[in-house]
Amino acid sequence: MENKEIIPARTPDDVVREIADFTQRIKLDNFTEESFIDMLDEQLLPVEKFFADYSCAIMEIETKFKVLNEQFSLKYDGNPIESIHSRIKDHNSILKKLIKKNLPRTLESIEENISDIAGVRVVCSFVDDIYRLADCLLSQDDIELIDRKDYIKNPKPSGYRSLHLIVRVPIFLENEKKMVKVEVQLRTIAMDFWASLEHKMRYKKNIQPELLEKLSKELTDCADMSASLDSRMQNIRNVLNSSNNQDM
Ligand code: GTP
Ligand code: MG
Repeated sequence: MENKEIIPARTPDDVVREIADFTQRIKLDNFTEESFIDMLDEQLLPVEKFFADYSCAIMEIETKFKVLNEQFSLKYDGNPIESIHSRIKDHNSILKKLIKKNLPRTLESIEENISDIAGVRVVCSFVDDIYRLADCLLSQDDIELIDRKDYIKNPKPSGYRSLHLIVRVPIFLENEKKMVKVEVQLRTIAMDFWASLEHKMRYKKNIQPELLEKLSKELTDCADMSASLDSRMQNIRNVLNSSNNQDM
């Protein structure tokens, strides 16, 4: 059977609380304020630094997309990007993934094995813009492509569609340059709308299996309809663009 052991993640707050409880319990009267702070720093700083690197990588990737958005809007009609949402994976999700993949619970193992600690989701109106933006990002000489999964051309059986890129981007720290992994998901508004509804269903508790099956089928159907809508709207835009060019 799969290892389903659930060990609650210790957040930095938990660590602070545990240390405070510990010092109270054994009444460390000679624990000076300084040595207490030193101990906290020792425990917390590496964790804070670890996650700070991912926040910096998110900023770098977001900036790259914002610059591309600006440039595209001058060259073509309108902005290709509707919105950008970024997040750092929360501690509980990191732990769940480590357990699922049977990986050691260390920062090194997280850095090595989990590619979506930093996630940037770019939402566009049109499918063509997704590929154009991805190509532009990947042609930048400081971006290193680790993996590319095209769930638009090859949707998941659920109906999930998006273009996924795992990249490494440099961040420039005080004394070093560090390459940091980021998962970039590019999708249309329609794909995003679908994925968020499907995500809600997936994580809904106490749902009867028969109902779940029915809703999953319904959602797969919706995914196909929404892909066809994306494609028809793309065609309309292509016609509009070519007639614009002819008018010139
Ligand atoms: P995992 O993150 O462990 O699943 O790694 P993986 O290599 O299998 O990644 P995958 O390509 O399956 O996609 C990872 C991310 O894409 C997930 O964390 C979701 O954000 C999104 N995703 C993938 N499949 C689905 C899906 O069927 N429905 C929804 N709503 N999101 C999905
Ligand atoms: Mg997966």
